[in-house]
Parts: sequence; structure tokens; C-alpha cells
Amino acid sequence: MRVLVVGGAGYVGSFAVDELLAQGHEVIVLDSLVSGHSAAVPHEAELVVADARDDEALGKLFASRRIDAAMHFGAYTVASESVLHPGRYFANNVGSAISLLNACVAYDVGLLVFSSSAAVYGTPDSVPITEDAPLRPINPYGESKAVVERLLPWYGAAHGLRYMALRYFNAAGAAGDLGEDHRPETHLIPRVLQVAMGQMDALPIYGAEYPTADGTCVRDYVHVRDLARAHVLALEHLARGGESGALNLGTGRGFSNLEVVEVAREVTGHPIPVRWEPQRPGDPPVLVASAERAREVLGWQPRHTSLEEIVASAWEWHRSHPQGYPD
Ligand code: UFG
Repeated sequence: MRVLVVGGAGYVGSFAVDELLAQGHEVIVLDSLVSGHSAAVPHEAELVVADARDDEALGKLFASRRIDAAMHFGAYTVASESVLHPGRYFANNVGSAISLLNACVAYDVGLLVFSSSAAVYGTPDSVPITEDAPLRPINPYGESKAVVERLLPWYGAAHGLRYMALRYFNAAGAAGDLGEDHRPETHLIPRVLQVAMGQMDALPIYGAEYPTADGTCVRDYVHVRDLARAHVLALEHLARGGESGALNLGTGRGFSNLEVVEVAREVTGHPIPVRWEPQRPGDPPVLVASAERAREVLGWQPRHTSLEEIVASAWEWHRSHPQGYPD
């Protein structure tokens, strides 16, 4: 298939591009490069630099190439920032999805894999979280993903679009030349490793009094390569005529922030001092997936489930790219 990957120069998107190419698909990446990196796009993929909300650029692209399917990763992703700037998040995350959906309809592209998030659940009533849990986001980032998820069935009903929304838990890890480079970096694992590399004096831990065993938040870390594989499986499922829907992508195991620091100390051999800070707005205490449905529907199971392996892969990338991707 020839697949348009919107946001393919970003963290999860670039791994999906790599996996699509490995599976023999052709890839066109559309990315504004506002937070993506051209160095994360393999040479075998074509890179078109444009904002997905630019309907004219999208129309030109769709009109000039046959496109069989689309994947949408393009979004702002920092939950705490979204609390301060909801308009920015809704305009970009919902706006880009609407532009892409409308272009897909106009040019008869009937398959879409959408990058959603565990943030759609907000603070769940119980864990592990199944896909049937209510969508009750507690920050505008999660709301933006939930809104797009709610649009998808309408496009399905009216235009026959088949889609899969993939709700990632915490994407982490690296492989080969591809890794995680957000600017500024807000995610736990890369920041822990910045401390280990001497780029930060101590790791701030946001909140010591959550209702968890050690008082720090618990997250389900899933290797970005496993996420990438799920996208290709989802596309193949849709191409076979499989049903549209939403699937969680996680490992089913949670680690507290302190446990992550402890694993990183072992992996890096660095003491990694911590500093206690107040809770970050919009952080649910515990997010752990039930990934049963993804196994049933896609035959997907994460392969890189040990936190040591995930952190070690990220450590290797950060050591070989101490300043991230070249500008
Ligand atoms: N944390 C710290 N110190 C830091 C950075 C993070 O204590 O310097 C804590 C956070 O407060 C949170 C945990 O580490 O408790 C994980 O934080 P991340 O920023 O790494 O990830 P989030 O869980 O906030 O968010 C990630 C994605 C979202 C997605 C969410 C769903 O960035 O897009 O996972 O699980 F919605």
C-alpha cells in the first residue's frame, strides 16, 4: 500500500514509518516539522513539509498521488501544557484531524489509523482499563483525542471510512537511529536519562502523595517499536475488511515514577538524584492498560515488555544522540 503518514517525523510516527517500510509499504510523510525532525524520516520515505491543517497543501498532495491509506500522528502531546493552552490543542489536534478526514473523503481514501491516547480515559474507575471504560478526559489534550475519536464513526457512517483509533499508554524506548527528542522534553524516561547524562542536576518528581504504593504516579510503559507494529497490524486488519474501532496499546503492567528511576539507576550506573515537586496539573494517578482486545483483534502482543530493556534502549540512543536529532 502507499500510506500517507501525517506526523511521521515525530516520535511514534517515525517508528511507524520505519515499520511500514520494513513491511514493504510505500510511505509519504507529511509533517510541519514544528516538533518533528527531518532526520527521523528515513530516506526511503518521501517527506512533504506542510501543516496538516493546510487544506490546499493536503489537496495538492492527494490530487498528485494515489494514496491507499492514512495514519494520523500529528498532534501536540503535552497534557500539562494543554491545561494552560486548550485553544492551541483543540485547533491543532482536532483541526488537523478534520482536514485529513475531509481530504480522505474527497480523494476516496477509505482507511485511517488514528493515534489516540490513554488520556481519553482521564482518571479511570478501575485498572487495568478496558476500551469500554467511559471517555472522561481530565485535560484538553485527552479531550482533543476523545473528540476526534467521536468524529470517526460519523465519517464511517456517511462515507464508509474504516478506522482504528489506537490508545497508547506511555510510549517509551528507542531503536537504531530512531529515538525520543521532544523540545522541551517533559517525559519521564528521557528526563531521567538527561540526569544520568549530567544535563540536569536532579529529576523533579511531580507528586509524592498519590494513592499508590509509594505515593508516585503509575504508568504502563510500552516500547515504541511495539506501538509501531500495532499500527501496521491495524492497517492490515482494516484492509482485510476488519471492523473499525478503538484499541488500547499497553503491556498491562504499571511502574511507579520511583520504580522507573530505580530501573534507570541500574541501567545507567548513575545515582540519579531526585527532587520532590508538587503534582503536575492533569496527571491521573494510575494508568494501566488491558490490552486483551488488541490481542484478539490484531493478534498484537508487546514483545519488549521489560522496563529494563525499554530504558536500556532509550539510554543507548540518548548516549549516541546527547543533543537529540541534528537540527
Ligand atoms: N514525571 C515526573 N518528572 C518529570 C517528568 C514526568 O515526575 O520530569 C512524571 C509525571 O508527573 C507522570 C509520569 O512521570 O506521573 C509520566 O509522565 P510523562 O510526561 O512521561 O507521561 P504522561 O503519563 O504524562 O503522558 C504520556 C503521554 C501522553 C499520554 C499519556 C497516556 O505523553 O500523550 O502518556 O498514558 F496521554
